[in-house]
Order: sequence, then structure tokens, then C-alpha cells
Amino acid sequence: MWLLRRPGLLRGICCRSAACQLRKSLSSALEELETKSEAKLQKQVCQVVLNHFEKQYSKELGEAWNSVRKVLTTPQCWQYAVLLNPFRFSSEVENDLLSKGYRLLFPESSSCFRQSFKCYITSAPGRFPAQKHRAGRLKEYYLLNAASILAVLALDVESGEKVLDMCAAPGGKSVATLQYAWPGLLQSNEYDNLRSNWLRNTLESFIPESLMNLVIISQLDGRQIGNLQPERFDKVLVDAPCSNDRSWLFSSDTQQATVRLAQRKELSAVQIQLLRSAIKALRPGGSLVYSTCTLSKAENSEVVTHILNTCSNVLPVDISALATSASKEFTLASDVQQHELLILPEMGRAWGPMYISKLKKC
Ligand SMILES: C[S@@+](CC[C@H](N)C(=O)[O-])C[C@H]1O[C@@H](n2cnc3c(N)ncnc32)[C@H](O)[C@@H]1O
Repeated sequence: MWLLRRPGLLRGICCRSAACQLRKSLSSALEELETKSEAKLQKQVCQVVLNHFEKQYSKELGEAWNSVRKVLTTPQCWQYAVLLNPFRFSSEVENDLLSKGYRLLFPESSSCFRQSFKCYITSAPGRFPAQKHRAGRLKEYYLLNAASILAVLALDVESGEKVLDMCAAPGGKSVATLQYAWPGLLQSNEYDNLRSNWLRNTLESFIPESLMNLVIISQLDGRQIGNLQPERFDKVLVDAPCSNDRSWLFSSDTQQATVRLAQRKELSAVQIQLLRSAIKALRPGGSLVYSTCTLSKAENSEVVTHILNTCSNVLPVDISALATSASKEFTLASDVQQHELLILPEMGRAWGPMYISKLKKC
């Protein structure tokens, strides 16, 4: 009953029976939404994947899995954040967002990063209309899962730093990084050919030509970058290829989904290789952020624990201050360590799933 938990909805209702009436109509609207979602769910959710998740996540998340499952299987309740592009700022878009009930994410910390870094969110489901690509014209905003912003905040790039976004396509976190600070250099890397083109399009749609000289788009296997460019970077983001729970659940091809589930175990080996390469690519004293959009422990904390246990030059970085400020808008798992965040989607705060961890090279 997430709608009923929003105090603003009930503000101004002083008569008990009116509040009761409102509760009833909200509740029937929600029931209708749930019925529609379930009809869609039967058509669209891949049962093989859901069964697999059910088994794994009820064990790993306990009670919390029930509410996470509800969000993951109900696309109608998914939410999208709107990251404004300061390089093509539009007060019209900003006013439109405000009139539609959007609010600024982290308004109190805007002095910590560039004033122009503005990400808007709303508790209501739905998506602000996407902007079409128009040649020669920068886009005014980027739609994303608000949890992605937390990875960029955890990376905490300072002006002049050399940054590597190792697995960058389609480019959301590269775009957000360039809006968060002025790096001396941002290398946005993507291995896959098609996705690399997508990354280039994204960057060209959001970053003015005059700033593109700060950006290098490379198409390397991230696992090789450490050897090719040792100790080159101050910060590295490893937004790793992972099970991607949201999209896996809606795989239309059951056979392909089954194969991917079987291959799931191999992902952690690739993630470890990417992290080892990232550590090599960092200068001593530099730091990295590892993130995924899965809830799977095998791809999250177990990967990071493995790195901490096997790399003597790496230490965990405490990001609990970020967790404290994030907890106002995000639902976070409580059984994680101080160098980790696990964002659990919940009705009305349908952000994530996302795992974020920060490490430092000594
Ligand atoms: C989770 S997505 C990245 C999303 C992106 N950071 C963003 O915010 O838009 C992971 C990406 O890693 C790429 N990838 C997979 N294996 C890779 C490798 N060995 N080296 C570099 N990129 C790789 C995938 O093609 C995919 O585009």
C-alpha cells in the first residue's frame, strides 16, 4: 500500500470519512493496477528466470525478497529519474518536472558537487517522455535508474582527475560523471562494437564538442586495460556486465534465458578479471567503484570479498556516509559492510537493484 504511505496525498483531508473514502479509492486503483500488472506478468515474465530468482533471493534476502519481487515483476510501477544536462539547461524542462511533482535528489548536498548537477525524481511510477536524437542539438536530459547516480557519487571524481569508465555503454554513468565534476580525462570504454556506437551517440548527444577533448572513447576488453595502461588513472568505475535482474526477468526467449542462467556462474570470473585489471590501471592511492544491477551475492559481495582476500594492495573504503544520505530516498539492505551498498527496489522507491562497493589501491 505504498500510495497510502505518502503523507502528501492525505494532507488537507481533515474529515475522517473523506480520508476513508480516499483510502478506498486509492486501494481499488492499486488493486486494478495489480490486476493489470499480473495479466501483463503472465504474458511477459520469464517463468524459468523467476523460479531461479525465487529460490536464490528468498534465501539471500529473506523477507525483503517479497517486496523486491513485486517491483521487479510489475513494470507498471517502475520509476525513472531525470538527470538534467547542464550543457543544455532548459528552465522549461525543470519547471515541467516541478509541476509534475518531481523533486531534486540530494538537494542538501548540492554544494558537495557542481551546482549544475541536478537529478530529479518522483515517487510516482512512469517515465518522463524521452527525447529523440536531433543532429547538432544536445539533449536536455537523460532518463535513468536513480540508483545509477549513487555509483557516480561513490566514485566522487575531483576536478582534473583521470577517470576510466571501464564498461561504459550505453553511457549513463559517463554522462553523469562529466556533470558531477571536470575530470582531466575521461576514458569511456566499451568492448562490444554495437554498444560502443551507442556509447558514442550518447556522449555526443549530451556533451558539447568543446568538452569532448576531455573524453576518449575506447573499444578494449576491460580485462586488458590494466596491462595496457598501468597506473594511469585516479579513479576507475567498473560497472560490470552482470545478470541484470530486471531485464533477465523479461527475457522473451525461454531457451536463451535457460542458457544464460547456466552461464551465470561464469559471470563472477569475468567480474573478478575486470576488477584485477582496474586495480592495475589505478595509480597507488587511487580508488575504484564496482557496481552491478543484480541482487546476486555471487556477483556482488562475494566478488569483492575475493578481491580483498587475494589482492594485498587493496583496501575497502567506508561509504556509510553516502548510505546515510541515500537512505532518505532509497531502500538499502542492512546486512552489508561499510564499503558496500545494496539498493533494493520497493514500491514508490523502485530504484535498483544495484550493488555498489568502493575500494582503494594502496
Ligand atoms: C552494466 S553495462 C554498463 C552500463 C553503463 N555503465 C551505463 O551506466 O550506461 C555493462 C557493459 O559492459 C560491457 N562489457 C562486457 N564485457 C566487457 C569487457 N570485457 N570489457 C569492457 N566492457 C565489457 C557490456 O557490453 C555492457 O555494455
